[in-house]
Amino acid sequence: MADTHNPGFAPFSASPKGVLILFCNDGLKFGPAARKLLTPTGDLVQRAAPADRFTGKSGSALDIVAPAGLTVTRLVVIGVGKAGKRSSADFVKLGGIARGKVPSVATEATIVTEFASGALRPDQVADLALGATLRAYSFDRYKTKRREGEDKPADTRITFAVANVAAAEKAFVPRAGLAAGVRLARDLVNEPANVLFPEEFAKRCGALKKLGVVVEVLDVAAMTKLGMHSLLGVGQGSAHDSRMVVMRWNGGKKGAAPIAFIGKGVCFDTGGISIKPAAGMEDMKGDMAGAACVVGLMHALASRKAKANVVGAIGLVENMPDGKAQRPGDIVKTMSGQTIEIINTDAEGRLVLADVLHYVNTRYKPRFMVNLATLTGAIIVALGQEYAGMFSNDDRLAERLTRAGEATAEKVWRMPLSPEYDKMIDSKFADMKNTGGRYGGAITAAQLLQRFVDKTPWAHLDIAGTALGSPQTDINKSWSSGWGVRLLDRLIAEHYEK
Ligand code: BES
Ligand code: MN
Ligand code: ZN
Repeated sequence: MADTHNPGFAPFSASPKGVLILFCNDGLKFGPAARKLLTPTGDLVQRAAPADRFTGKSGSALDIVAPAGLTVTRLVVIGVGKAGKRSSADFVKLGGIARGKVPSVATEATIVTEFASGALRPDQVADLALGATLRAYSFDRYKTKRREGEDKPADTRITFAVANVAAAEKAFVPRAGLAAGVRLARDLVNEPANVLFPEEFAKRCGALKKLGVVVEVLDVAAMTKLGMHSLLGVGQGSAHDSRMVVMRWNGGKKGAAPIAFIGKGVCFDTGGISIKPAAGMEDMKGDMAGAACVVGLMHALASRKAKANVVGAIGLVENMPDGKAQRPGDIVKTMSGQTIEIINTDAEGRLVLADVLHYVNTRYKPRFMVNLATLTGAIIVALGQEYAGMFSNDDRLAERLTRAGEATAEKVWRMPLSPEYDKMIDSKFADMKNTGGRYGGAITAAQLLQRFVDKTPWAHLDIAGTALGSPQTDINKSWSSGWGVRLLDRLIAEHYEK
């Protein structure tokens, strides 16, 4: 695994080594610490800037190799544009941009956390460091060779030069846990399905125990006893047994009702008997991204000892075609007692979630439930890879998720739920059928989920477009994004830890 180290913090006065990164505004103005560092270079930046048409515009950069007068190997000046209000997400993004300017062969880099207006605050520095850490993620544990001419990436040590080292370090502590949670989610999604099947996934959740999370694994026998035949039907064609994992973090008031997060964990989705076409099927190793997000979130919450009672529950199955596999036309009885006619075995995520949602709702009586799932291709058609689809029966929860999405740049767009759609999933033989035809495919999937949550405030996030398939940003260059960990950590911190 390349560079997963946390960055270090040093005072402005420390002498930089390796790559030196400074910020300037669109008048090519620097802050006092940067000006002092640049003194030996004379008017180097002023002369180099026009040669590269660099004006300090936001997001642009000037890259000078072996800058005269300095012992550093490279000087990178990053423009931040005009002065103005910047959000936490802006600093995270800027940290990603800065980290992206460090060549992979560099062993050291110093990022000076100062704008022309002066030193950044500790929380802003910590956000930069979070963005830089996320940007550095890569998944290469299965690469044993390098291509010709490809350099071995260095173990790059990043140092942030700051006004107050102790304050920056303190502000970074919860972000370090958050970064580790995102990394964990990305790793789980990137892992191939021959390695990460339900039992192995459940085993990896056990690592959360070290952080004080209570982890309970339910096997096929336990789920059969509970009557979770909808979830079990999806997994019955696989050589790998299904599992459900329930993780509990009790950092809130003793006995207070928890908040709950539920994830779709289809470790591989072939489509089952309604088998998918071959092209792109390999991406379906990531059909457990909802579950990965829940695990990453529990890691982040436990690392920062969040003052909240939180339940994370994931349904883990593999959807395979087989002699024992479920067929179109089969009718399954869910744990709730409602029956579902299977029209298409590829609409399996909703079958898994139906039982996990009902289990969590009745067992824990949560204040609210949020589920995450790579549920439909239809949501990608509707929203692309920028926004996740959000469906909710509760305006306040939906509003809070929307705002947390804006604050973290993990954005959600509310989609409709309405009883008129229900007739699309009426079945001739059972209480409902598992697909509603070609139109409104993301909506009919959400309508089905809603039947398993009763009156509990609930939101369903369809993350098929945002979680996987290289949704690249300044803070992610991997195939999987770890989408949702930062969003939900923020939601909890803002509203449910008081
Ligand atoms: N896991 C897929 C949805 C998906 C597609 C996730 C692309 C990520 C990227 C889901 O189980 C599925 O197959 N959905 C079907 C539903 C249909 C059969 C009603 C779909 O969207 O085509
Ligand atoms: Mn499917
Ligand atoms: Zn699926």
